[in-house]
Amino acid sequence: MNQSNHPIKLVVLEDPLATAKYVADLFCDAMTENTSCVLGLATGGTPVETYRELSERNRKETCDFSSVITFNLDEYIGLEPRHPQSFRRFMQDHLFDHVNINLINTHVPDGMADDVNEECARYENRIRDAGGIDLQLLGIGHNGHIAFNEPGSPADSRTRKVALTDETIEKNARFFDSVADVPREAITMGIGTIMEAKRIVLMATGEGKREAIRKMINGPRTPDSPASLLQDHANVTVVVDRAAAGELAK
Ligand code: F6R
Repeated sequence: MNQSNHPIKLVVLEDPLATAKYVADLFCDAMTENTSCVLGLATGGTPVETYRELSERNRKETCDFSSVITFNLDEYIGLEPRHPQSFRRFMQDHLFDHVNINLINTHVPDGMADDVNEECARYENRIRDAGGIDLQLLGIGHNGHIAFNEPGSPADSRTRKVALTDETIEKNARFFDSVADVPREAITMGIGTIMEAKRIVLMATGEGKREAIRKMINGPRTPDSPASLLQDHANVTVVVDRAAAGELAK
């Protein structure tokens, strides 16, 4: 039961595939409503099936990416765009290479920038120049992180360079040959940047995310659990499967 006084809408579905289809519907609706909408995108395991759904629908011509603009949440510092674990490469492999998007309209922070601070400012400006993000997709870390905003990240933080926590490095090591290969730093949109999106959809599946979801929805608003700060946003939908919902499904 959602006992907190905030407008977060919780949608509990049977399994991960149902969450992927639901979120794909929301994205297709946004693209139909506004063909040049601005989408905020996430990487990680959770949205992979959603991107597969969207690719399939684009192939069937039921959703059109031709005028859409995208901004990804984050990127590792020090990985070339072509590196198999860079988030740019992830987006190419899972979505951009399969849909009719114009690559010029796709934005991922440049983890190879000589001047990282300048790159962060440039990224913020690009989002602003595009008119802001209409629909932002988020995943959630076990520790409640959103993008690479780890516990302790300020509510008003902007796009910036961050150090990854040991927990996040260990979790992400599954995508690399070894823990030692995981970059220690990243560029991430800030919580303040994310909060400016007009609408936010956060997805989570599996029992391992249950506690993070519970704290996000029923816990206090605190930077110790960054996702809980979304309680202050007026238009957030959290889409979870039964395993991630746990008691909240009752
Ligand atoms: C991804 C991102 C991360 C992930 C989160 C969950 O761009 O910013 O915050 O959303 O770590 O990752 P998965 O989906 O792999 O559990």
